[in-house]
Amino acid sequence: MAIIIDGKTVSASVKNSVAEECRTLFEKTGKKPGLAVIIVGDDPASRVYVNNKKKACELVGFVSREYALPASTSQEELSALVKELNSDREINGILCQLPLPKHLDEKAVIELIAPEKDVDAFHASNVGKIMIGDFDFLPCTPAGVMEMLDYYNIEIAGKECVVVGRSNIVGKPMSMLLLHRNGTVTICHSKTKNLKEVCRRADILVAAVGIPKFVSGDMIKEGAVVIDVGINRTADGKLCGDVDFAEAEKVASYITPVPGGVGPMTIAVLMKNTLTAFKLQNLL
Ligand code: GUN
Repeated sequence: MAIIIDGKTVSASVKNSVAEECRTLFEKTGKKPGLAVIIVGDDPASRVYVNNKKKACELVGFVSREYALPASTSQEELSALVKELNSDREINGILCQLPLPKHLDEKAVIELIAPEKDVDAFHASNVGKIMIGDFDFLPCTPAGVMEMLDYYNIEIAGKECVVVGRSNIVGKPMSMLLLHRNGTVTICHSKTKNLKEVCRRADILVAAVGIPKFVSGDMIKEGAVVIDVGINRTADGKLCGDVDFAEAEKVASYITPVPGGVGPMTIAVLMKNTLTAFKLQNLL
């Protein structure tokens, strides 16, 4: 049976060190990191995420501001808010919760956020910096996965790493972070042939496709490390990942559960990124 990678424990450890550094910097400067979170419309999942981000800010000692805008908000109104926050000296990090309502252009909003305040690391400038390995921020979810692997002393160098999913938010940056750490990385997607065989090569298998129980037990090599980034809801309202957990835990050496795996890590890294933004902007 696999060892369960406990995202709550790792996340608490990251948040504790952020809180400690935040306290030290406050004693030195009298200033606290500030995070602005923009939410447009009333998507229930986004509301839960934004509430959790606010709670995490309180826990680590940041100032958090929420901008809850109606679903009818125009591109111009949203742009005006982002521009205002870009020049607000109390705000070090800006996060616009995605997805946005259909009539709004997500890409345009992301590109308008000042790269030094882009704590999601979604701006093309930050994405480019990640490609060349010279970055200030890492995207929260993939960086959270790396924190988990490190916490459990899971070796990456030389390992076969297979990432299922090629999104800009998870799959692509995840592959790059594993590559930076000398993993041999394969990215799979909907057109991949022999998906099962490719997955079975993995020493580290990351599932980020957004399809409930997409990765079955027979797609996993005995002893592989299985990281499940999926957060899906089943018909009866329960959370479930992209991996069939019951099958996978019988073959894997380590596995992340859903919930309580990768999910809590995303917010912990967001706190870390906001602290980094604060330090960079205050030359600390
Ligand atoms: N929606 C789902 N995940 C994320 C995330 O990491 N950042 C933002 N801004 N929106 C999201």
